[in-house]
Amino acid sequence: MAENNDLSRRDLLKAAGAVTAVAAAIPTVQGAPAIQKVRAANDQVQFGIIGSGSRGTYLMKHFKTIDNGRCVAICDILQDAIDKGVQTIGNNPKTFKDYRELLAMKDVDAVFVTVPLFVHFLITRDALMAGKHVFCEKCLVFKPEEVHALRALAQEHPKQILQTGLQRRYSYFYQTVKQMVDKGILGDVHHIHAQWHRNMINKPSGLWTMKPGGEGNIANWRIFRSMSGGLTAELTSHQVDVSDWMFGSSPEFVMGLGSLDTLKDGRDVYDNIQLIYKYPKGQKLTYSSVSTNQFLPFFNASRAEMGEIIMGTDGTIEITVGDGPNSYEPHGSPCIAWWYREPPKTTEVTKAEDKNKPFVAGATMVSAGGANGPIPIMTSDLNFTGKESFLDREVKFARRWLTAKGVMMQEEQKNPVDVELESFFQNCRDGQRPLAHLEVGLADSVAVILSNLAMDEGRKVYFNEIEKMGRGEAPKKA
Ligand SMILES: NC(=O)c1ccc[n+]([C@@H]2O[C@H](COP(=O)([O-])OP(=O)(O)OC[C@H]3O[C@@H](n4cnc5c(N)ncnc54)[C@H](O)[C@@H]3O)[C@@H](O)[C@H]2O)c1
Repeated sequence: MAENNDLSRRDLLKAAGAVTAVAAAIPTVQGAPAIQKVRAANDQVQFGIIGSGSRGTYLMKHFKTIDNGRCVAICDILQDAIDKGVQTIGNNPKTFKDYRELLAMKDVDAVFVTVPLFVHFLITRDALMAGKHVFCEKCLVFKPEEVHALRALAQEHPKQILQTGLQRRYSYFYQTVKQMVDKGILGDVHHIHAQWHRNMINKPSGLWTMKPGGEGNIANWRIFRSMSGGLTAELTSHQVDVSDWMFGSSPEFVMGLGSLDTLKDGRDVYDNIQLIYKYPKGQKLTYSSVSTNQFLPFFNASRAEMGEIIMGTDGTIEITVGDGPNSYEPHGSPCIAWWYREPPKTTEVTKAEDKNKPFVAGATMVSAGGANGPIPIMTSDLNFTGKESFLDREVKFARRWLTAKGVMMQEEQKNPVDVELESFFQNCRDGQRPLAHLEVGLADSVAVILSNLAMDEGRKVYFNEIEKMGRGEAPKKA
C-alpha cells in the first residue's frame, strides 16, 4: 500500500502544471517588479503609527525591510510603548501621546491604526477627516453603528486609501488557492473547516493574560467585551475572511455556542467558541476556537493551532499562514498549502459479481478512496516555464519532489505582511483599491459582531440583520 501515498513523477508534473497555470494567472503583488532598494525620500509615503503595542511594533520590524514608506511619527498613550516603538523603528520619529497631534502633522500622508479594537473607528474616522490614508488593523470596526458610519464616511473620502490588516489576502499561497477554487480545480467547493486552538493554560500568551487592574487596565482590553470581540474578533476574523473570499460572498446566517469554561480570572469573553456559517449557495464554514488545547489535526499534525481545510468535490486544500522565516524571524514557521485530490469519477459497480471481485492495484488504486498523499502548492520559483535548460528542469523537479515528500519546505518568497504593507504604500501613490479594502474589512467586522450575537443569544442570526442594527445611533466615543 505504500505506493498509494506516493506521487509518481507523472502525477506530480500534472499537478504542478495545473497549479503553475493557476499561479501564473494571479495578479499578485508579489509578481510586481521588485521595488528599488534605495528610494528617494520624496518617493516614500510618510506615515505615523498610532498604537505602538504588540502589533504596532511587529509591523515596525517589517517596515525596516520596506522602502516605499517611512515612519515619521509614533503615538501611544503609554510612554513605555512610545519608547519601545522608537527603539524598534530605529530612526528619529516625532512622538505623541494624543493621536490628534499626530494627525495634525502636514507631512504625514498615512497612518497605521494599531490600537485596541474599541478605538479603531474613532481614530480611523479622525484620520480620514484629517485627509490621511489609513491602514487600520483588523477588525476594522467594533459596533454595528460604526459599520454604517465608516461606510458613509469613506464614500465622502474616495481618494483616500483605506486598508485593513487581513494579511492572508496578500499571501501567494492563499491567492493561488483562491484561483484554484475559482477555476474549478477543486470541483464544487461547499465546505470549509477552520480552527484556531491555543493552550493558554500551559503556554499563556501575554496578550490574553489578566494583568492587574482588570477592566480598568487597557492592557487587558482583549479579554473584556467592553473593548474587544474576544476570540471571534482576534482569531476567527482572519478565517471567516478566508471563507468569504473563497466562497465569494458573506454568509447568510451564523449559529454558534460560546462559553467561558476554564479561564475564569474575571474576564468576560468566551474561552471557547464553535460556529457554523451558512452561505447563500448552501456552502458552510464550520469553525472552532478553543483556548485549552493547541492540537491541529492538519498537515499530519506537524503544526499547531490554526489552519483551514477547503473541500471541493474534486479535491481538498489544507492551508495555514506562516510567521516567517525572514531576516528578523529566522525560525518562524512557513505558510503551507497542501492539495489532496478526490478519486476520479468511476463507473458505478452494479453487478453483484463485480462487487465481489478483488480490487486491482494500480493507477486506479492510487487515486481511490482519497488515499492520495498531499501535493504541496509550490512557490512560483518552482513553476515550470518551459524555457529552462534540461539541468534546471531536473533541479526544479528534484526540489518539487523533495517538497512533495516533506523533506523540503516551501516558503512564500515574501511574507504576506510585507506584501500588504508595501502594497498599501503603493496604493497610496497609485490610488488603486487595496485587496483588503473597506468592504472586505466591514464584512469581516459584521461577521464578528453577528457571530458574538448568535452565541450570546443562542440563536440563528441572519447577516441582513446588520442593516437594522445601530441605525440612528451615533458611534460612541471611546
Ligand atoms: N493582523 C493581525 O494578524 C493582527 C495580529 C495582532 C493584533 N492585531 C490587531 O492589532 C490591534 C492592536 O493589537 P495589539 O496586540 O498591538 O494590542 P496592544 O495592547 O499590544 O497594543 C495596543 C496599543 O495601543 C495603545 N493605545 C490604546 N489606546 C490608544 C489611543 N487612544 N491612542 C494611542 N494609543 C493607544 C496602547 O497603549 C497599546 O500600546 C488590535 O486591533 C488587534 O486585533 C492584528
